[in-house]
Amino acid sequence: MTVEPAHPGVRKIKAYMTEAEDDGLPAPDLLLNSNESVFGPSPQAIAAARDAAAKMERYSENVDAILAPEIAAFFGLDASKITVGNGSDDLLARLARIYLGPGTEMLRSENGYPKAPNYAFANDAEVHSAPDQGFRPSVPHLIDGITDRTRMIYLANPENPAGTYLGSDELQALHAAMPANALLVLDSAYDEYIDDPGRTPINALVDGARNIVMTRTFSKIFGLAGARVGWLYGPDEIVADVRRVATTFPLSGVSLAAARAALTDRDHFNMVYEANRDGRAWLSEQLSALGLEIVPSQTNFVLAGFADPDKSAEAADRHLRAAGIAVRRFPSPAFRNYLRITLGRRAELARVVDVLKAFLGAVSN
Ligand SMILES: Cc1ncc(COP(=O)(O)O)c(C=O)c1O
Repeated sequence: MTVEPAHPGVRKIKAYMTEAEDDGLPAPDLLLNSNESVFGPSPQAIAAARDAAAKMERYSENVDAILAPEIAAFFGLDASKITVGNGSDDLLARLARIYLGPGTEMLRSENGYPKAPNYAFANDAEVHSAPDQGFRPSVPHLIDGITDRTRMIYLANPENPAGTYLGSDELQALHAAMPANALLVLDSAYDEYIDDPGRTPINALVDGARNIVMTRTFSKIFGLAGARVGWLYGPDEIVADVRRVATTFPLSGVSLAAARAALTDRDHFNMVYEANRDGRAWLSEQLSALGLEIVPSQTNFVLAGFADPDKSAEAADRHLRAAGIAVRRFPSPAFRNYLRITLGRRAELARVVDVLKAFLGAVSN
């Protein structure tokens, strides 16, 4: 007899990204496949992590008390509503563990962050996926999808892999239609890349409700994906429960030091924001000019559609791979004709454009 999981939903968890095939090619030298920051962390974060490495014999105690006020000062937030974790992935998993279970449902957008269902399955909850519109979550369809079992509405805002996002009016409309016993989780991993000065920040929505949380990360604009530092902003009672189910000492001392130092380098943050915004506009324009469909992005990646079956996304991926460039494909049929390309530096993006130009048979200029 074998040991079976007490949570049978665990066996429903599937890979949600297409793994790199063993194609016999040398390892790619340009990694544009995981939405990491090609600009790296602040040099100050690297130096702080090095210093902290000399104290690795210690647990890092009271990480919320240390890091939450510094995050709050950087973003103009209330520190008491912040708790930190081992990447935002840890915080999303904790939310699912607290609010989902057998007989409950997570409601999500059908082409939203493909990992989200796994948080529900791990807790034996069901997943209801509402249709979207052009890879943009549809608030009316999400509202239609609410049932008396809905305990969590999960939205990545901006979305991954599409890069689309909903403004606060739409989020407020969704929230207004939700039952008070369901939690709206706004996974805001790419929030810092949004280029919309007129928008209401997500924290204002959190401050005005008892059942909205946002999760954020140091993995993207701060360039600290490998350090695994995420944070959650939410109502006091939710933050208290999320803290209750934390692992002991959820951040390493090295990661804590890196995140703290990253928050002291606003110039690096601004440089990455601007380079990313410019690269996004440039790559979108170049790829559109090659006849590819570009989903308007508010993130550090662009989703490009290959409509011509003779010039498929899969074949384009192989060409890029042969040129040493890794981008991302997804197993979901909706994304079969798409490649997600993380934004690199201009010269790196120019490499992508040149390979795709040659692949599509376009005349070089
Ligand atoms: C939408 C979304 N949420 C969460 C994450 C996980 O981020 P973290 O590194 O903070 O765990 C990612 C990472 O790519 C993401 O794209």
